Amino acid sequence: MAGRRTRKPGASSETVALPTGAEKTARVRAMFDTIAPRYDMVNRLMTFGLDQVWRRTTVSALSLPPGSRVLDLACGTGDLSRIALRAGHQVVGADLSAGMLAANGTTTPLVEADGSRLPFSDGAFDGLVCGYALRNFTDLAATLAECARVLRPGGRLAVLEVDAPTSRLWRAGYDVWFTKAVPALGGALSDRAAYRYLPTSVAYLPPAPTLRAMVRAAGFSAVGIRPLAGGLSQLIVATRSGTP
Ligand SMILES: C[S@@+](CC[C@H](N)C(=O)[O-])C[C@H]1O[C@@H](n2cnc3c(N)ncnc32)[C@H](O)[C@@H]1O
Repeated sequence: MAGRRTRKPGASSETVALPTGAEKTARVRAMFDTIAPRYDMVNRLMTFGLDQVWRRTTVSALSLPPGSRVLDLACGTGDLSRIALRAGHQVVGADLSAGMLAANGTTTPLVEADGSRLPFSDGAFDGLVCGYALRNFTDLAATLAECARVLRPGGRLAVLEVDAPTSRLWRAGYDVWFTKAVPALGGALSDRAAYRYLPTSVAYLPPAPTLRAMVRAAGFSAVGIRPLAGGLSQLIVATRSGTP
């Protein structure tokens, strides 16, 4: 296995090998196929329901009028899509995992697709949301380039992802919760291997300055990255470059 061995804030204290390339794509797909039936329940318990607050913040950050065409990339079971629908947007969901799409209870059109090869035409969307998937993408640069391609110039990007708090006290609690309680809870209710992967997969995320540079290089301007709830999650917003 070609792997990264690394440790980052929020990652387990163990040194963990993380897959890369085609092996990562296959393992991520299989993992989400497995956990799909109980994904929503475990999410709510893991975050005490805060995940939905952060998703609402993400959709609002698009700052688009009702009726806008919005792609929910890596839509999973459809939490962000539902919020975007309630905001009056026309939503399409895309995801790698057939299992997650089967558990998706929304009324939006759904497409099984890899984020690095999206089956949509250039400029097809006014906005793109993506929740908790950045670290799962095998080729982040290619996926960000696809996000830029399918957005019209002036289109809006809002990406929600996990983060690690910087305050020492907050961070200590977070480390215990994320690296001990979450795998135990996920293991009891769903699949232990998948919920051990969750904290370790934070190591795939580039540091904020690198991520900002990658988003810019993909074709975005006005790139902002801000922590949510003291750094429990982060929100990346940007505008597709070019003249609308
Ligand atoms: C943690 S879940 C998040 C689901 C949903 N966005 C949410 O907010 O609950 C990550 C999702 O990313 C999807 N995913 C992972 N790699 C992907 C890829 N390369 N292309 C598209 N979707 C991908 C997974 O199948 C999974 O549904």
